[in-house]
Amino acid sequence: MLMSIDTIENGFQLEFRRKVVEPGIKDPIKFLQRWLYLSSQVPRLHGAALARIRIPDIQFLLTEIAYGECGFGDNTKIHCKLLAELMRKSPYATAITQAVSPELEQFLEDTVSELCQMSQDEAIGFIVGLEAPAYEILGLLKQGLVTAGIDEADVLASEYIVIHDAVEKEHQESGHAAMEMILSYGFDLYKIYQGGNTAVRFLIEMVGENMLEKQLSYC
Ligand SMILES: [Fe+2]
Repeated sequence: MLMSIDTIENGFQLEFRRKVVEPGIKDPIKFLQRWLYLSSQVPRLHGAALARIRIPDIQFLLTEIAYGECGFGDNTKIHCKLLAELMRKSPYATAITQAVSPELEQFLEDTVSELCQMSQDEAIGFIVGLEAPAYEILGLLKQGLVTAGIDEADVLASEYIVIHDAVEKEHQESGHAAMEMILSYGFDLYKIYQGGNTAVRFLIEMVGENMLEKQLSYC
């Protein structure tokens, strides 16, 4: 297979679309619950990847993404806090904000551990894969929030959504810039692909219908 940066990123987006977007979200409450949990843990994935990176320019890119997730120096703007604030407007807020299953938590812990063992190329690939379907996820998220009973105007005007509409593009660009940079250092494209593939499989498992968890008992 002929690999380039674009075919790799497009491949990740296609895979996510095929496994999550096209089948659709059948249980929006569970999707939102899982996304809130993932949002609260995602800086750890950036941190774990950062631990593997030796190149200062790429350390900078990963730090920038994690810093943004953690509120750009304002702890009231931490992304998962903004998201929780928005989700509290849903009549299903109690179900959405309840803890995820221990199995799902363990799956995330295992992924953090796996990431800590990756090579530099795989670790950067993981972050590229994690960011690649950001727009698809944002679309599902908006849809899920409305289905969960939050007024569409409130969803679209919320700080979380406004920030992410603007920021996800930057995240993708950072991932892309990191990939270009790592390639210019002569690293292995196939390893980048492998790391990204792990990230996409992780996302599909976290938020897709192919779920580890049993049906939520919110209704
Ligand atoms: Fe975010």
